[in-house]
Amino acid sequence: MFLFFILSMLCFDFIDVSVAIDTITSTQFIKDPETLSSKSGNFTLGFFSPENSTNRYVGIWWQPQFTVVSVLNRDQPLKDSSGVVKISDDGNDLVVLNGKKEVIWTSDVPNITTNSSSILLDSGNLVLVEGTTGKTIWESFEHPSNVMLPNMKLTGNKITGEKVKLTSWKTPFDPSIGSFTLSVERLLIPEVFIWNETRPYWRTGPWNGKIFTGVPNMKTHYLSGIRVIDDGEGNVLFFEITTDTVGLIIYNLTSEGNCEEKWWDEKKKEWKQTSNVHETECDIYGVCGTFASCNSQNSPICSCLKGFEPKNKEEWNRQNWTEGCVRRTPLQQCERERNQNTSADKKADGFLKLQMVKVPDFADGSSLTLSSDTCRNQCLENCSCVAYSYDADIGCMSWSGNLVDIQQFSNGGLYLYIRVAHTELDKERNITVIIIITVIAGTVLVLACAYIMWRRISNKHARNRSGSAIGELSQVKLQELLLFDLGKLATATNNFHSSNRLGQGGFGPVYKGTMHDGQEIAVKRLSKSSGQGQAEFMNEVAVISKLQHRNLVRLLGCCVEGEEKMLIYEYMPNKSLDVFLFDTSKSKILDWCKRFSIIEGIARGLLYLHRDSRLKIIHRDLKPSNILLDNELNPKISDFGMARIFGGNEDQENTRRVVGTYGYMSPEYAMQGLFSDKSDVFSFGVLLLEIISGRRNSKFYDCENSLTLLGFVWIQWTEDNILSLIDPEIYDPIHYKYMFRSIHIGLLCVQEFSIDRPTMAAVTSMLNSEILDLPPPKKPAFILRQNMLSSLSSDENNDGLHSINLVSISDLQGR
Ligand SMILES: *[C@@H]1O[C@H](CO)[C@@H](O)[C@H](O)[C@H]1NC(C)=O
Ligand SMILES: *[C@@H]1O[C@H](CO)[C@@H](O)[C@H](O)[C@H]1NC(C)=O
Ligand SMILES: *[C@@H]1O[C@H](CO)[C@@H](O)[C@H](O)[C@H]1NC(C)=O
Ligand SMILES: *[C@@H]1O[C@H](CO)[C@@H](O)[C@H](O)[C@H]1NC(C)=O
Ligand SMILES: *[C@@H]1O[C@H](CO)[C@@H](O)[C@H](O)[C@H]1NC(C)=O
Ligand SMILES: *[C@@H]1O[C@H](CO)[C@@H](O)[C@H](O)[C@H]1NC(C)=O
Ligand SMILES: *[C@@H]1O[C@H](CO)[C@@H](O)[C@H](O)[C@H]1NC(C)=O
Ligand SMILES: *[C@@H]1O[C@H](CO)[C@@H](O)[C@H](O)[C@H]1NC(C)=O
Ligand SMILES: *[C@@H]1O[C@H](CO)[C@@H](O)[C@H](O)[C@H]1NC(C)=O
Repeated sequence: MFLFFILSMLCFDFIDVSVAIDTITSTQFIKDPETLSSKSGNFTLGFFSPENSTNRYVGIWWQPQFTVVSVLNRDQPLKDSSGVVKISDDGNDLVVLNGKKEVIWTSDVPNITTNSSSILLDSGNLVLVEGTTGKTIWESFEHPSNVMLPNMKLTGNKITGEKVKLTSWKTPFDPSIGSFTLSVERLLIPEVFIWNETRPYWRTGPWNGKIFTGVPNMKTHYLSGIRVIDDGEGNVLFFEITTDTVGLIIYNLTSEGNCEEKWWDEKKKEWKQTSNVHETECDIYGVCGTFASCNSQNSPICSCLKGFEPKNKEEWNRQNWTEGCVRRTPLQQCERERNQNTSADKKADGFLKLQMVKVPDFADGSSLTLSSDTCRNQCLENCSCVAYSYDADIGCMSWSGNLVDIQQFSNGGLYLYIRVAHTELDKERNITVIIIITVIAGTVLVLACAYIMWRRISNKHARNRSGSAIGELSQVKLQELLLFDLGKLATATNNFHSSNRLGQGGFGPVYKGTMHDGQEIAVKRLSKSSGQGQAEFMNEVAVISKLQHRNLVRLLGCCVEGEEKMLIYEYMPNKSLDVFLFDTSKSKILDWCKRFSIIEGIARGLLYLHRDSRLKIIHRDLKPSNILLDNELNPKISDFGMARIFGGNEDQENTRRVVGTYGYMSPEYAMQGLFSDKSDVFSFGVLLLEIISGRRNSKFYDCENSLTLLGFVWIQWTEDNILSLIDPEIYDPIHYKYMFRSIHIGLLCVQEFSIDRPTMAAVTSMLNSEILDLPPPKKPAFILRQNMLSSLSSDENNDGLHSINLVSISDLQGR
């Protein structure tokens, strides 16, 4: 028995070795159970049987852990192990033959070719090439099964409508064609769909150049490796995964209609599932019917859009959403135009705004290039337009007919404006007004009581300034805003005494205060240049005070009395990062680990501002003095949202009012006033390089070559002299790898062109993961000092802290 065992082992080995061919030709073929390997051995072509089945299939699998990625004879299994894969006798096709030499599968190439041969490439692509010209005439990547591999392209042709799509297996143990397909759809504003036979089952929402807007948790393309490209000429749209930065990622369309993203963990030699498209019930296409939106956080999950009501109330209440919702009040404007009904209300229709939604299917992308205002007007003027959405990355989308598959998220998504009759808008307003009036009445009553009691207890401060503030407050949501009393702030800060002054910035001086209950606060007394009205101001403060993140300084409230406007923040005893970083006696306190955690913290705070907070705030003035440190030296970003508070429009991409600090501003912002999240990424990069090098960008002088800090870092990087960049205080060979990687990330952030810079989401992932490969950095902006001075000649002085801003910069010395 034992001998037999040994013999059979040897025998199998022998077979394996003997068939190590790399090309199939008309004379060389593979016979069950022989295999064909790609050059690196990563992929193998051969025969296999699914679990509990005797059927034999020809497939391509991932060798390190048997995973089938492609099957040729999906619907024509071989019934025994007499199968052969070869080039057909006419030299034209790759074929699979059964024991009786019958063709059960063929590549079916239309052209007559001769002497073709077939090889399995390292990408997992099985190609058939013509013998004489070497031209590829067929490839398995253009006929995928259920798995999408890197560099495989799912395509859709705008002209012919031809598509390359994934098709699921029937069951996990049966490779025959299943009911689900995955393909690129809506080619003007591309998105990916999963279909159950002919019915849509799931969709990603429009692609905005970086992510699918209907998949709120989707990582940026940096991580997912997804690209969507239009080749321009043949009007074919590609959707492919690349592996430049991410390692091996595949997408698997399962037989249940799910699409799994998997990542190959080389260390553990196994697949890690990273995400799934179906997370909630709301992910099923159109669960809620027409004019309704789905929110998985709610119970029940479906609700009609504002201004709409269930078509069939009984069924709706029974949670049968199939019939959806209908408009409650007809659109007056259009009805009037239609029947010349002069008696009707003449007021125009309006729009109700939804935010953070997956926009409905069937967006009209014919006027993508319109501006936000024109987009709205065009929709208002066209009676068949029922909704529009404007996104800076996508453009203007509009909808007519029924709105289906709207989903409400708690982050991400897009804005959607739904057209409703004017009377519906009035209803909305009335409700808001009623709430405000109730709240105001209540508050006034309480304040009045308190005031009377206070008068009784103490007569000496017979002031009544709070009255005016209450008047102003009627326009903001009172309950959400903590309004501080000027008198109390004056007491807390010792009448804004200079000994309480923590610093002076462009927005105004900052004072330390202690409230009578012992709470320490920092009070920023805004300079009077703010162009905003009081109500607007308080509204902004209310909104911004709701942003909470452990790496953001908390805005506690504000104070508006007469000419005075103040912002009240939590107090940070450890002052700001620059105090530690650039002071030789203190910089020792920040060792490498501390510095790295500060870098990470800033990145997280910034990511929250850019992506996770619903406001999408761009800081515009990130620098060490705006990073405050708490007791444990955790970083907290301060002064975010100042552009909003000062009346700048955060949503606008181009601004005449350049706010920021010389040396930290990206070139496109400093020179053209163009800002985006990528301008913050630039500032972050400068900050990161300062933290690691311990050198202040603005005070960096290299007289010989007149280099800036960025120029200096770049030269040392290209000359492979990284050691000279690292602050000697923190250098430790154990951490060198991480320091090197961080500098690399810093350089990626300060690249000249904003499009090259990673987003903060990508930066955080790069910082947190050692396995992601980083692309090589391109040359940074502002390498030469000369350059900067001449280009920013407007308003500089020579102390290294110039600012070319109109609303100048806060330069707090901590709070
Ligand atoms: C083969 O796969 C390994 C990961 O398992 C990868 O590191 C290697 O680069 C691959 N080889 C080729 C030629 O793609
Ligand atoms: C295969 O057969 C075994 C034994 O009959 C059974 O336990 C197992 O569940 C089967 N697997 C599948 C996938 O059907
Ligand atoms: C077929 O191709 C092989 C190399 O791929 C070549 O050696 C042979 O001459 C070719 N035969 C014909 C008939 O073209
Ligand atoms: C097939 O032949 C036609 C015309 O002869 C040619 O235009 C086309 O490119 C060929 N296709 C392939 C795959 O070689
Ligand atoms: C797919 O559609 C079929 C009917 O065509 C249905 O029976 C099945 O439940 C659907 N699958 C899913 C996952 O919805
Ligand atoms: C794809 O999903 C199916 C389950 O439907 C699973 O059996 C199969 O192994 C998966 N394939 C890959 C390559 O992960
Ligand atoms: C849901 O309502 C539709 C019509 O409103 C009806 O045809 C259908 O049977 C209902 N489904 C269920 C499960 O009750
Ligand atoms: C105006 O509209 C009302 C209700 O829609 C309708 O009853 C009336 O006949 C219309 N008048 C004209 C002149 O069309
Ligand atoms: C109104 O919108 C519909 C659908 O988007 C479009 O077909 C039609 O041309 C538009 N009409 C005008 C006057 O723009």
